[in-house]
Amino acid sequence: MLKAGLIGCGYISEKHIRTLAKLSNVKLVAVSDLQKEAMKNAVKNYQLLKQNQSAIAQYTDYHDMLCDIGIDFVIVAAYSGMHAAIVKEALKNHKHVLVEKPLALSLADADEIIQISEMLNKQVLVCHQLRYLPIISKLKQVIEKKQLGNLHFASISMRINRSDDYFANSTWKGTWKKDGGMLINQGIHLIDLFTWLMGNIKEVYGDITRNRKNKEIEDVAAGIVTFSNQAKGLIEANTITKPANLGYQLNIFAEKGTISIGGKGLQEIIHCYVEQHPELESELQSNATDEHLLMYKDFIEAIQKNRPPLVSAKESRKALETIFALYHSALKKQPVPLPLSAFSTEEMITWSKKGDEYND
Ligand SMILES: NC(=O)c1ccc[n+]([C@@H]2O[C@H](COP(=O)([O-])OP(=O)(O)OC[C@H]3O[C@@H](n4cnc5c(N)ncnc54)[C@H](O)[C@@H]3O)[C@@H](O)[C@H]2O)c1
Repeated sequence: MLKAGLIGCGYISEKHIRTLAKLSNVKLVAVSDLQKEAMKNAVKNYQLLKQNQSAIAQYTDYHDMLCDIGIDFVIVAAYSGMHAAIVKEALKNHKHVLVEKPLALSLADADEIIQISEMLNKQVLVCHQLRYLPIISKLKQVIEKKQLGNLHFASISMRINRSDDYFANSTWKGTWKKDGGMLINQGIHLIDLFTWLMGNIKEVYGDITRNRKNKEIEDVAAGIVTFSNQAKGLIEANTITKPANLGYQLNIFAEKGTISIGGKGLQEIIHCYVEQHPELESELQSNATDEHLLMYKDFIEAIQKNRPPLVSAKESRKALETIFALYHSALKKQPVPLPLSAFSTEEMITWSKKGDEYND
């Protein structure tokens, strides 16, 4: 039985608690939050779902939780700006870590986490749960089996709405230092899929704008990407879609076919044509699934078998690097080649202060 501790008992923690309660080989033994009420609710929910009243320790200071040698892994669900510091400290206390996206808000932090986790042989999984959707796993197999042939072009779009209340009701959302940006918060799931499915990226040319001044960060982003295999990619994202979320899209155009997936949960096939493989359309059509549970199962197996999970810290770095390159490109007004050795979202604070006219 693996013993888990949860740090951060806010909105997303409910999803973690529901998943933890479904696992027979994991026991939640501790929670941490600055707000006692949030911890109490988390404990109550877990005990209710589990139908078990066994004691769960409650820490207002997560450092104390990390000193508990009885905890095998921690779930980091505090706000994004805290992730890197908590993950590093957890690893140094010999815990495995399942961390909400993003892993970090700077490449320096991401690299340090990768180095510590490898040195101490502890697993880190970053919550990019969309990779575990059956439709996406199948698409990955189709690409790997070369059924689409050479990949020529891919585009991703995110057209969603984040209201004034969304930013006003949070102390961290919409800030470069604690949130990291629209692409880091909302866009990162699609960008993770982009690099996972299409391959490494060698250049990013992008720009961003901030149309609504109810926050520091961007609300529109556009990017042109060149992959290592010469394929081109287009990133299009916004959080100002009226009146409400339209959804997400991922389109792949290849030598032997075209596949387009969309919908609010990225689970609908919009178009599927693969030469000599008409069966793939129905094979891609996925049944309802709990991708969050699949993600946890991968993490637990990774701990037990001492192998990296599907979205390890190293894997999740690719999406971070792509987004940072796009931000860097927006600052410089020129294409940015990868690998990028350093970037922190704090570099964007000047961009907001100077308005959209910023030029290096
Ligand atoms: N994977 C996904 O699809 C997904 C979806 C939503 C949110 N997230 C991520 O989850 C994280 C949390 O988002 P949220 O919407 O739950 O935010 P939230 O503001 O609702 O919750 C954050 C919680 O962290 C707590 N906290 C703050 N400082 C703390 C500290 N020092 N010690 C312990 N707890 C502390 C807050 O009190 C709060 O309860 C973010 O990084 C976000 O990007 C991921």
